[in-house]
Amino acid sequence: MSDRFYITTPIYYANDVPHIGHTGTTIFADIIARYQRSLGKDVFFLTGTDEHGEKVAKAAESAGKNPQEFVDELALKWQEYWKKLNISNDQFMRTTLPGHEKVAQELLVLLQAKGDIYKGVYKGIYCWGCEEFKSEKDLVDGKCPEHRPDQVEYREEDNYFFKLSKYIPRVKDLIESGELSVEPENKKAEMLARIEGGVNDLSASRQNVTWGVPIPWDTSHTTYVWIEALMNYYSATKIWNKEGFWPADVHFLGKGNNWFHSVIWPALLLALDLPLPKRVFVHGYYNVEGRKMGKSLGNVISPGELMDRYGVDGTRYLLAASMPYADDSDVSMKWFDEKFNSDLANGLGNLVSRVAKFVNGGSPSKERVALINTYYDNFKLNEVISESQKLVKFVNDYFSSEAPWKLEGDARKVVIDAAVEKIIEIANLLEPVMPESSSEIRKILSGEVPSKNLFMRIV
Ligand code: MSP
Repeated sequence: MSDRFYITTPIYYANDVPHIGHTGTTIFADIIARYQRSLGKDVFFLTGTDEHGEKVAKAAESAGKNPQEFVDELALKWQEYWKKLNISNDQFMRTTLPGHEKVAQELLVLLQAKGDIYKGVYKGIYCWGCEEFKSEKDLVDGKCPEHRPDQVEYREEDNYFFKLSKYIPRVKDLIESGELSVEPENKKAEMLARIEGGVNDLSASRQNVTWGVPIPWDTSHTTYVWIEALMNYYSATKIWNKEGFWPADVHFLGKGNNWFHSVIWPALLLALDLPLPKRVFVHGYYNVEGRKMGKSLGNVISPGELMDRYGVDGTRYLLAASMPYADDSDVSMKWFDEKFNSDLANGLGNLVSRVAKFVNGGSPSKERVALINTYYDNFKLNEVISESQKLVKFVNDYFSSEAPWKLEGDARKVVIDAAVEKIIEIANLLEPVMPESSSEIRKILSGEVPSKNLFMRIV
C-alpha cells in the first residue's frame, strides 16, 4: 500500500460564497484526509476556487468589479470559511495563479502536438450556469435542470475541439473494469449509460470569452473553463512540488460534476499519457425540505448559519450525518436541530458528562473498530455516524444497568473504566469528523480538564 494519499474537492466557482452543498463536499473530503493521516499516510489534500470563465466574469460585472479584483475577494472568503470549519487542506488552488495558467497552457500544447485538437464551429446550446455545452437530451422542457432559463443560450462560434470521442472506448473499458473506480455503483451506471448514448468531441476553447487562459497558439481564444479547471488537480502537483502524489487517489465531487471527472478528465489524461486517478467518488445533492436548494427558491442554507447554531464540530457532524451518499438527501433546520439534540446534546455530550462525574484518570484505548475503518475506506460517513451512535446508546445502557454509583471499590472501578474506555473509542472513531470535541472528550475523561457541557441543547 502506498504511503501517499492525494485527495481533492472540486474547485468551486468564485462567483459567490459557499452554501452547504460545497461545504458538505469539503467536509467529507476533510474527514477522509484526516482519517488517512491517522493511518500514517502522507496526505495531500487540495481544494480551491475556479476563477475563470463566463459565469465568473458575469458575476464580476454585476458586482461592478474587474474580474481579478472580484475573484481575489471571493477566494479569500472561501479560505476564511474553510479555516473556520477546521478544514485541513494542504494547499488552496486558485486558477488565476500564474503557475496554474502555465501548466494548463503546457498541457494544451501537448494535446495540440498529439493531433487531438482541431478547429471547427460549435453550434448549439450552452448553459453558462453549468459552463457546459448541452444537447437536447440534457434539457428538460428546453431548460437546464440546474439553472435559470436566461442562463441557457444558443451559440454559434469558432472553437477548437478536443477529440474526446477518440478516447471514449478506452474510458468506457476503464470504468467498466473498475480500473477507474467510479463510486458508488449508481453513479458509475449513469456514466456508462451516457457513453452508450453517444459522445461528441468537446469544444475546448471559447472565442467570445476573454476572462480565461489564452489558447497558446491562438490568443484570440480562451480555454474552455472546464478543461482548464480539471487540469488544476495536476498543476497543483507541479506548483507545490508534489509530483510524487500523482495520480490522485480520489476526486470527491457532487453528481453534477460527474461527467467531467469520470469521462472528460480521464480522456484528457489518456491523451496526455498521464496516469489516471484511482477513484472518483460522486455524492448526491442536499435538498432542503424536499426542494432543490437555490437562491431563487430562497432556501439556501449557509455554513455560517450552521456554525452559529451548532458550532464547528456540530456542523461537521450534521453534514456528515446527512451526507447524500448514493441518493440525494433531504435536510432542514428542524432536522439539524433534532439530530443535534438527540445525537450530540442528549447522546454523546450527556454521556461524557454522566461518566465524567465518576472519573479522575482513565486509560485511553487506542483500539479502532475495524468495521468503522471499512466505512471510512468506502466513504460511508453516515454509517460511521450511526455506528458511533449505537456505541453511545450501548455505553449509556451499560452505565444505567450497572449503576456504578451503587457499587464500591473494584466493582465500581471496573464499570467506570469500561465506560471510559468505550467513550474514548467513540472519540477516536469520530476524531476525523469532530477533531476538537474528540480531543476535549479525551481530556475530560482523563481528568486533565474539568467536565463541561460539550454540546448545548438547541431549544
Ligand atoms: N467549478 C466547477 C467545478 C470544477 S472542478 C475541476 C463547479 N463549481 S461549483 O461551485 O458549482 O461546485 C460544484 C460542487 O459543489 C459539486 O461538485 C458539489 O461538490 C457541490 N454542490 C453544489 N450543490 C450541491 C448540493 N445541493 N448538494 C451537495 N453538493 C453540491 O461545478
